[in-house]
Amino acid sequence: MQYHLIATCSLGLEAVVARELNNLGMSNVRSDNGQIHFEADEFGLAKSNIWLRSADRVWWLVKSFPCHTFEELFQGMKTIPWGEIIPVNGRFPVDAHSHNSTLTSLPAIQRTAKKAAVEVMQNKYRRLVFTEDGSAHYPIKVFLVKDVCSIMVDTSGSGLHRRGYRTLNAAAPLRETLASALVQLSYWNKDRLLIDPFCGSGTICLEAAMLGLNMAPGLTRKFAYETWPIIEERVCKMALQEAQDTFDRHSKLNIQGYDNDPQVLKLANFHLQKVGLQGRGITFNLRDIAQFQSDEEYGIIITNPPYGERLLEREEAEELYKVLGNIKRGLPTWSVYSISSDPQFEKYFGQQAKRKRKVYNGMIACNYFQYPGPPKKFTQNRVF
Ligand SMILES: C[S@@+](CC[C@H](N)C(=O)[O-])C[C@H]1O[C@@H](n2cnc3c(N)ncnc32)[C@H](O)[C@@H]1O
Repeated sequence: MQYHLIATCSLGLEAVVARELNNLGMSNVRSDNGQIHFEADEFGLAKSNIWLRSADRVWWLVKSFPCHTFEELFQGMKTIPWGEIIPVNGRFPVDAHSHNSTLTSLPAIQRTAKKAAVEVMQNKYRRLVFTEDGSAHYPIKVFLVKDVCSIMVDTSGSGLHRRGYRTLNAAAPLRETLASALVQLSYWNKDRLLIDPFCGSGTICLEAAMLGLNMAPGLTRKFAYETWPIIEERVCKMALQEAQDTFDRHSKLNIQGYDNDPQVLKLANFHLQKVGLQGRGITFNLRDIAQFQSDEEYGIIITNPPYGERLLEREEAEELYKVLGNIKRGLPTWSVYSISSDPQFEKYFGQQAKRKRKVYNGMIACNYFQYPGPPKKFTQNRVF
């Protein structure tokens, strides 16, 4: 069967996710208002969940129809063969979202949609009550935008940022999906030195390592689709096996994370162990940015320094941006990529960024300031 799927992501990352989907060989990839639509069979559905690095979730768009009234919602939901999709004891919680639409009451939208799905199930299974105590899980989302209703089922389960390695949180960790996007938006590749001088719990370094070693971010986690009888176990296993086979288990990287807080470095090292990449050239060490030095050429800094909103006061953060700018000027072959919410970042860095991209770190509107250095001859292979 061919599925119409939608990858959702944080604003500003649509192009990265679309690129990832194209690289995964998905069909008909197109962005629409922060959602990236694509088509795939069962194998592609599994593969996109296992491999997408910057998307939040993968949804199955089951049906879309104009919807101005509860009756239209009810009838639209009833045209979907829920009994063919959901087993008799499957769990199918309904959630709703409404934007610029006539129907606004989310509880009423949820109730109406659930009632219609239950009626369809009742006709199929010839029973009145559904215990919803099985393992098969179908989180349904009624998504109303401008009076068009999209009925979607979450194929991922928990968000795709949950890779499984980050179990302990530092003070202001970067989401794994955003960290991976920052790496993919840089010129870094596995043959180049990467440094995160404000590494915290190590997210940027670990996401880069997984990217460099072609390690699928979903290699060790579970997804909702794996509980669905309509997706054959054989297909799930095949997709996972492909990810196991293409994982580079031998190359050594040169990825260095530094921080001036010994506690967060313990977390970074713990996460490195959890992801299983010890001994692969990824190191985390104590060092204040003021002590930064390197004899290497063509290194790449990708970092998430304090913004002064959550950790230090803004002035202290701005001092750190000055230090970053000095590092870049002292190492002319190096590239610096930094995310910050501070609109004055470039002023303190002392140079206008070659490129700026608006991204969101959770709810915080940020810019990704990009200062690429000269290309490293012969080995440059831009990821994105
Ligand atoms: C926004 S957090 C980075 C979070 C990280 N990206 C993660 O995912 O966990 C900024 C980090 O900068 C560190 N830091 C602050 N001032 C520093 C300095 N002068 N030198 C090195 N690290 C510093 C903090 O300890 C903190 O871990």
